[in-house]
Amino acid sequence: MKIFIDTANIEEIRECAAMGVIDGVTTNPTLVAKTGRKFEEVLGDIVEVVDGPISAEIVSPDADGMVAEARGLAAIHRNIVIKFPLTAEGLKAVRRSSKEGIKSNVTLCFSPAQALLAAKAGATYVSPFVGRLDDVSASGMDLIHQIVQIYENYGFDTQVIVASIRSPMHLVEGALAGAHVATCPYSVIKQLVKHPLTDIGIERFLADWQKVPR
Ligand code: E4P
Repeated sequence: MKIFIDTANIEEIRECAAMGVIDGVTTNPTLVAKTGRKFEEVLGDIVEVVDGPISAEIVSPDADGMVAEARGLAAIHRNIVIKFPLTAEGLKAVRRSSKEGIKSNVTLCFSPAQALLAAKAGATYVSPFVGRLDDVSASGMDLIHQIVQIYENYGFDTQVIVASIRSPMHLVEGALAGAHVATCPYSVIKQLVKHPLTDIGIERFLADWQKVPR
């Protein structure tokens, strides 16, 4: 399973990239706003740190505007993937941009039917938001299972990104379901590393090492 980091914070990206566990980055308007920086500057920094797919979201309401925005962002770097919303206009824009070789991540997916349409439109990635579904008492992970099954049934190449991850179990369950990618916030990546038995084990080894004659 590939792991992307879901942030626009360059320090967080640098730290996780240094561990060698990051295959790509996803951003969204909320994450970019948190940085207080210009979008193009943020993207320029990210492509220098991570050599993998970097999702950048467009904000136009109609397909013409989305395609124009997509062209501009895709021109920044070959690794830029454009995030289109899962709307009728978004799907039109995916279809048109994919013909120009622009890679897409269809975002805000909340149903298996929406995911099927994203694949048919030619999406490179689809992003089902598991955490936001869990937040409203639905099962985000059921959605991942359904999408993976549907894509397998019909041989779609679209890759499933487990998005809106809230805890390490979302990544683990997504991996067991056969999702291609998990995009995790920085806090979850830090949690993935940690295990109390690892910490206790290190403590004991260090204490015992003091008893070894030198
Ligand atoms: C996905 O690409 C989104 O950026 C993200 O996972 C949304 O997560 P949230 O529900 O925590 O905002």
